[in-house]
Amino acid sequence: MSEESHSHHISHDHNPHDHSGHVDGHGGHGPVVHGVAADVAVSYTNAVEAAVPAHGRSVVQVDLVAGEIDWEFVPGQVTRAWGFNGQVPGPTLEARVGDVLEIRLTNNLPEPTTIHWHGLQIPAAMDGTDMVQHPIMPGETFTYRFRLPDAGTFWYHPHMNETVQLERGLYGAIVVRGENEPRFDAERVLVIDDVALDRNGEIKPPGWWIEHHDGRQGSTRLINGRQEPELAIAAGQIERWRIVNASSARYVRLSIGGKPFTLIGTDGGLIDAPVAMKEILLAPADRAELAVGPFAEGELVSVDALRYDRKTAARPHDERFATIRVGPPVPSQANIPAKLRNIEPLIEVDATPTRECHLGFKLSLKHGVDFLINNEAHHRDKPVKVGELQVWDIINDTMMDHPFHLHGFFFQVVSVNGEPPAFRSWEDTVNVPPKGRVRIAWVPDDRPGEWMYHCHILEHHASGMMAHFEVVR
Ligand code: C2O
Ligand code: CU
Ligand code: CU
Repeated sequence: MSEESHSHHISHDHNPHDHSGHVDGHGGHGPVVHGVAADVAVSYTNAVEAAVPAHGRSVVQVDLVAGEIDWEFVPGQVTRAWGFNGQVPGPTLEARVGDVLEIRLTNNLPEPTTIHWHGLQIPAAMDGTDMVQHPIMPGETFTYRFRLPDAGTFWYHPHMNETVQLERGLYGAIVVRGENEPRFDAERVLVIDDVALDRNGEIKPPGWWIEHHDGRQGSTRLINGRQEPELAIAAGQIERWRIVNASSARYVRLSIGGKPFTLIGTDGGLIDAPVAMKEILLAPADRAELAVGPFAEGELVSVDALRYDRKTAARPHDERFATIRVGPPVPSQANIPAKLRNIEPLIEVDATPTRECHLGFKLSLKHGVDFLINNEAHHRDKPVKVGELQVWDIINDTMMDHPFHLHGFFFQVVSVNGEPPAFRSWEDTVNVPPKGRVRIAWVPDDRPGEWMYHCHILEHHASGMMAHFEVVR
């Protein structure tokens, strides 16, 4: 869904609201350490004014309405859910690099919300966290506006009370196209999620401490908001699949009937060269772009999440997400070059880290369990300077996986437990294995302000496995 507008002059009737009260954005978990900076209105206005399309590009305007809806996650069974524009996922936002996206978000939910543009390298004022804007109260409208700097598959979701708002269905994909994209026969966006439904088909309320510890993993498995859909594809075709893992906590070890596919992109767009594989692990918030096919007419291929043990109470087993039905053949026009993009490594594997981020947890009388960064729930980390190389070691002191997500800036994965990755890429989310160490490198460009990083298992984020830090000039 995209609406083109060629006007560069748009009136901004919705400015940040001047609420004086403080709202904790974590659904009541953890200490209240969040507060909106005093100059939030100035930063917002500056960001709006700076958002001008690149030469020859345009402003893409979208209206998003977050509200309660009746949705059939399971065909034939109506569930009270929350969605953007009446659907789960919300509409896929499509634009090109250099376009300006202008989104007017109306909050028809019974509680405050904001939207975070996961993976977009945009100004801090547009990041949608409770550090950079006031919550959008029920009945209010707020306008986000920014220029799209990178091609790739991104997503949007609320950044308030996420364990409830995302679980009920508030999320959607963003597709940004670049100049030299490989050619495919077709493209599809697959947003993966799961939901925990009760006997009446309603979403179960948040659970107790095991769910806090493990993260919620529902047994109704969804692609694009539907339980185990059937996907039709013509024989002989090679498609580009843009996959987003929007689950609260589920790790998807994706397999397409055990057949080979080709990885062409990850969080930050195309990787350096295609990689053939038979499975790929998608941690919560991860994206992958795959070249899928060709299949033979009459094939029935199961799209599965293979057994993955992330050391939680749930017993892991293979689970189906969709079935592909292959129809009569159509000749392929696809063309995937051997080299997709040039990605220069920022550092050598043995470079000295400039910072360590320890992921941990401790039992708490109040919450059952608190999740920590450097021994603190809702940590305040040291600032970083624009232009200064960052080499961070993310160290997992726990016995379970944590997907580490950095807001607003791509990083390179330098090593996982000392081993360099199999391909070069830009990422915003990386899995940190149990007791593991992941080294990342990144350089903050000139977008000063309040940023954060956190575990993307939503329950862990809510219970404190997150840190704020400032990018300073
Ligand atoms: Cu998708 Cu703060 O994250
Ligand atoms: Cu926080
Ligand atoms: Cu975690």
